[in-house]
Amino acid sequence: MDQLMINAAVRPLIDGAPAVSALGWGMWRYHGDDVAAATARSMAALEAGITLFDTADIYGFGHEHGFGAAEALFGRVLKANPGLRDRIVLATKGGIQPPIPYHQRGNRLVECCEASLRRLNVDCIDLYQVHRPDLLAHPAEVAAALDRLRQQGKIKAAGVSNYTAAQVAALSAHLPFPLLSIQPEFSPLHIDPLFDGVLDQALERGLTVLTWSPLGGGNLLGDAGDERTGRVAAALDAIAIRQGATRAAVAYAWAIAHPARPIPLVGSQTPARIREAADAFTVQMTGAEWYAVLVAARGQPMP
Ligand SMILES: NC(=O)c1ccc[n+]([C@@H]2O[C@H](COP(=O)([O-])OP(=O)(O)OC[C@H]3O[C@@H](n4cnc5c(N)ncnc54)[C@H](OP(=O)(O)O)[C@@H]3O)[C@@H](O)[C@H]2O)c1
Repeated sequence: MDQLMINAAVRPLIDGAPAVSALGWGMWRYHGDDVAAATARSMAALEAGITLFDTADIYGFGHEHGFGAAEALFGRVLKANPGLRDRIVLATKGGIQPPIPYHQRGNRLVECCEASLRRLNVDCIDLYQVHRPDLLAHPAEVAAALDRLRQQGKIKAAGVSNYTAAQVAALSAHLPFPLLSIQPEFSPLHIDPLFDGVLDQALERGLTVLTWSPLGGGNLLGDAGDERTGRVAAALDAIAIRQGATRAAVAYAWAIAHPARPIPLVGSQTPARIREAADAFTVQMTGAEWYAVLVAARGQPMP
């Protein structure tokens, strides 16, 4: 049978932190000043079985409350909800500093992380990620900062985002402990990690893969603006209709089906949509259907 194994089982990620499901929740769009509404969104993620919460110091930049706002809002949610901290794997990122744009030289990442801890109202971050590589920082410098943070108990594990496979290898060569995770953009609209070595390296090294913009930032759910998006949406809908599932659920399942077991970061801030994301765990598809989505994204058959 051509049925794909979509492994949605929970898995341990970090010692002393809750296990994670096959989905995470992202707080890039976590704006505003309303702690009750922000709490409702966070609880919707927990109700969907999601324990991995991903934020960043820069989330909020360009919006009303600016750099640090998403972390500060979540810090207020954590303070208002004692017990929530221990139910989640708290992941954040640092190292982007407008307008430089990236700064991870010297002690900078340590300072960024300490500022995140203060905004989030926590003593320790479970997963601290370098948001984008600073091309001017030697990987040994970045590794030293991450090691210092870990030795001081300020972070439990380290990861990177938007790194090439070669950049992961360079950083790992200087890091005295294994990198836990990578975070590339990956979706039926953004398929580069399948071909640029990023997912292959995750398989080789056993890296956890968190994937950003799993619905193409919402483009997959829009009115299929361009021809390619329309094609990909139609290929997802062919599976969705047969399964009685939503297009979003099929898009998440399509990513989860890869053997690197990527964890799509659900970006919605609508409680009902966050809860509905868990439908991804029930989607079934065949290998032929998975490749049909890929062919739609490539715009040409597989060689
Ligand atoms: N590492 C990086 O550089 C990087 C970059 C970007 C993002 N990220 C991470 O990835 C996370 C997700 O990114 P994203 O927000 O672009 O994810 P996404 O899931 O691709 O897009 C979410 C957007 O789609 C909309 N949407 C429309 N219909 C939807 C439906 N049926 N179900 C769910 N969403 C629907 C949402 O609107 P509503 O909110 O109105 O539902 C929201 O605006 C971020 O929060 C962040 O943690 C990381």
